Amino acid sequence: MFTPHKTIGILGSGQLGRMIVIAASQLGLRTHVYAPDANNSPAGDIAHERTEASYDNHTALALFASNVDAVTSEFENVPANTMTFLAQHCVASPGQAALHTAQHRIREKSLARDLGIKTPRFWHITDSTDLTMAMTELGGDGILKTCQLGYDGKGQVRLSENDDLAAAFNSLQTNDAILEEMIPFHAEASFLVARTIDGSLSLFPASLNEHKNGILARSFAPATLPDAVINEGKAAVSALAEALDLVGLLALETFVTEDSQLLFNEIAPRPHNSFHWSIEGCETSQFTQLIRAVAGLPLGGTNCYGTWQMDNLFGEDMGGLEALANKAGLHLHLYGKAEAKTGRKMGHTNQQISKKAIT
Ligand SMILES: Nc1ncnc2c1ncn2[C@@H]1O[C@H](COP(=O)(O)OP(=O)(O)OP(=O)(O)O)[C@@H](O)[C@H]1O
Ligand SMILES: [Mg+2]
Repeated sequence: MFTPHKTIGILGSGQLGRMIVIAASQLGLRTHVYAPDANNSPAGDIAHERTEASYDNHTALALFASNVDAVTSEFENVPANTMTFLAQHCVASPGQAALHTAQHRIREKSLARDLGIKTPRFWHITDSTDLTMAMTELGGDGILKTCQLGYDGKGQVRLSENDDLAAAFNSLQTNDAILEEMIPFHAEASFLVARTIDGSLSLFPASLNEHKNGILARSFAPATLPDAVINEGKAAVSALAEALDLVGLLALETFVTEDSQLLFNEIAPRPHNSFHWSIEGCETSQFTQLIRAVAGLPLGGTNCYGTWQMDNLFGEDMGGLEALANKAGLHLHLYGKAEAKTGRKMGHTNQQISKKAIT
């Protein structure tokens, strides 16, 4: 049951955590950020409480658990034991199965395949002999990725047949890798669902995404794709959330081919960068929806206010801040990061590009 003034615990201290704190505050809830770098961080700066400790510090975790009514995470790489421990004390989002699966590219693709969701062809690679054999079988371009801990395109190498495969494998510095076929996609689309403890679901309109150097640069919503593709993506993300018994948010990244095939890329059991437009663009933002799901409120409506564009702001964009601040109708969101490094996500902008909603 929902009671204002409850405390939501958040694992992680970045911009997603910060926007979760803002949404919780609007609903009269308190927040407690737990992270190894909680002090002076985007989320820690504005939370009611902070604990700066490692994720395997059981003394600090026990104290944290006794101070919060529910806990959620802004990232999927929380050690499994940490969530198991917290789940014994309070509502834990996204849940252990969701974290365990989303932490490993083979596990998440295998689940998708088991549920009948198409994926690019993939091979588990544990040494350079595996890679040579898999590249021969693939017979074209591929992309080699670490199975764990990759983000923003890090831990990935693009491969063609004549490349030095041993060097490529060694550059990853792990023996747990995946080779995927390179998909000549027509578009990238993401799907987002919220799920409550009692299993009710709410889908967001889909987003169309543009990446630069493997990092998300821009999203448009609602995605202009054939109805059949949108419905397939929504059904896929719902099936995944149910299979994982997820509480909170699940995002699904996909490739859409020229002939309208939808292929699974990866899942993220948390708020997703490609849905930041929902802050102003949607009846209920992804952050508010997450808070509703974990605090025991009914899920809100997800109708879109027209069509939206979201642009990420990186360190190198900070010089143009004043011009952006002067632009009418542009919603500026900054994450309060002190140092503007190249490629570092510093904020984003949302703008309505048409008042007319695409249904
Ligand atoms: N098999 C593939 N075929 C074609 N493009 C790909 C493939 N895998 C990845 N990419 C491109 O690289 C981008 C990043 O890949 P992926 O989502 O696997 O990595 P990530 O590091 O988890 O990224 P992020 O944190 O941005 O989601 C994709 O959005 C896509 O543009
Ligand atoms: Mg991705």
